[in-house]
Amino acid sequence: MNSSVKVVPLERVTAPLLAVAVGELGNGKLPSSLLGLDVNTGGELSRLVTSGDFIGKRDETAVIYPKKGAKRVLLVGIGKPAEVTRGAVRRGAAVAARRAIEAGAETLAFHLAHETHGGVPPRVVGQVAVEGVAQGAWQFSELKATEKKKKRVSVLEIIATREERPDVERGRKLGAAVATGHHLARNLQALPGNVCTPTYLAGVARQLAKAYGYKVTVLNRQQMASQNLDALLAVAQGSLQEPRFITLEYKGAGARTPPVCLVGKGVTFDAGGISIKPAEKMEEMKYDMSGAAAVLGLFETLAHLKPKANVVGLIPTTENLPSGTAVKPGDVVRSQLGKTVEIVNTDAEGRLVLSDALGYARRFKPACVIDIATLTGAVVIGLGHHATALMSNDDQLMEEVRHAGDMAGERCWPLPLWDEYREQLKSDIADVKNVGGRPAGTITAGWFLREFVAGFPWVHLDIAGTAYTDSDQPDMAKGPTGVGVRLFAEFVRGRTRG
Ligand code: BES
Ligand code: MN
Ligand code: ZN
Repeated sequence: MNSSVKVVPLERVTAPLLAVAVGELGNGKLPSSLLGLDVNTGGELSRLVTSGDFIGKRDETAVIYPKKGAKRVLLVGIGKPAEVTRGAVRRGAAVAARRAIEAGAETLAFHLAHETHGGVPPRVVGQVAVEGVAQGAWQFSELKATEKKKKRVSVLEIIATREERPDVERGRKLGAAVATGHHLARNLQALPGNVCTPTYLAGVARQLAKAYGYKVTVLNRQQMASQNLDALLAVAQGSLQEPRFITLEYKGAGARTPPVCLVGKGVTFDAGGISIKPAEKMEEMKYDMSGAAAVLGLFETLAHLKPKANVVGLIPTTENLPSGTAVKPGDVVRSQLGKTVEIVNTDAEGRLVLSDALGYARRFKPACVIDIATLTGAVVIGLGHHATALMSNDDQLMEEVRHAGDMAGERCWPLPLWDEYREQLKSDIADVKNVGGRPAGTITAGWFLREFVAGFPWVHLDIAGTAYTDSDQPDMAKGPTGVGVRLFAEFVRGRTRG
């Protein structure tokens, strides 16, 4: 998407769709900044508002066809002014873009009526306008061969005042950097398992490395064996698809600055293995590489953001299938750290591949490690689809990640890793078993990972409830959400500021 900041009166905007985001209008009066636009509509805009037909409630929309200027004016409600934060503006922009797709408008002009919001700074407006419009405009039709494709919203014009312009422009650049990574993540998620294989993900990593000058390392089965990544190999042994262990390194700070290390679960299809899943909705398990998509998406963003930080991305990637060579319930393997694991349930494969990656991460002497994974169905029971579960061995890091999530509009909520839960993972035969029974399934998965964290602050993000939606939302089409990219971008940016 092409974005720019324009200083022009609203009544002179000529785009096919001009979206104006407005907070709730307590007094039923048209904000004075829209009076010029009202003239173009012959007073229809003010009648819409004074009649009380449009009050600016969150996600409320109304379209007017002015006599001159923009072909359509779309009012988008963003809620009560006191509650109008960056998140509300981002959402309003996304709702606007969803309507632009419906209207077939390739160019979208976006403006935030300044009287009706509680003080979102211009830089932030620029950032979230781009993030939101890109989010709402995202479509995936690459695999539709015959169906008529909808026009893409490909141009965004942010309408600002002369004074705001430099700040809005700064934010716009930031938002564009974040949006490209978010876009990549969602595209990768959307790809089916027969296209998006471990080798495919490795190819994407190699392309990013080549385009942006990152260091990349891709291990095959043999090389994994020599690195003692036996838990990953155990998951991979049931599949004909070659597994990969991918490392990407972004260097934006001095060699002595310890890196932030991001680990993304890259199970490109999870059938469950011998502990096979039921058929219903199994197709959704193509999304089991959403953590990997978030990490790759972030590396796209880093190229444009150029933060003064070092970032390492680790992606253990494989399929999890049943076959004659597949790992069996009861099998015992040794993870990279040296601990042995009894694999009681082959469907708890995410924690196996992540445990190896956490062991592998030690060599980078990381400042911190954040893993991101569609790890447990139980997290959907606990938090539904509105929050990512957060677990950690370090309270300060946990707060930092949670704050980044709030900034990004990707909320996280903490779950406790109390010692009592650890009991559920005791094995008769190995150091630990890979499942802890029904109670607190998300927490015992987190505890399993913690067993393989050695010597660094660590956060685990369980995105099984937030990585994709199975119904259309006002601000997001159904399907992949690209969760994690924006959070990581805010996190890395937060670390490089003062
Ligand atoms: N990939 C799944 C988790 C998942 C479930 C992601 C639903 C997205 C939506 C994971 O590998 C898995 O199968 N977890 C099991 C663990 C169980 C065997 C302890 C689960 O949640 O059922
Ligand atoms: Mn599984
Ligand atoms: Zn899985």
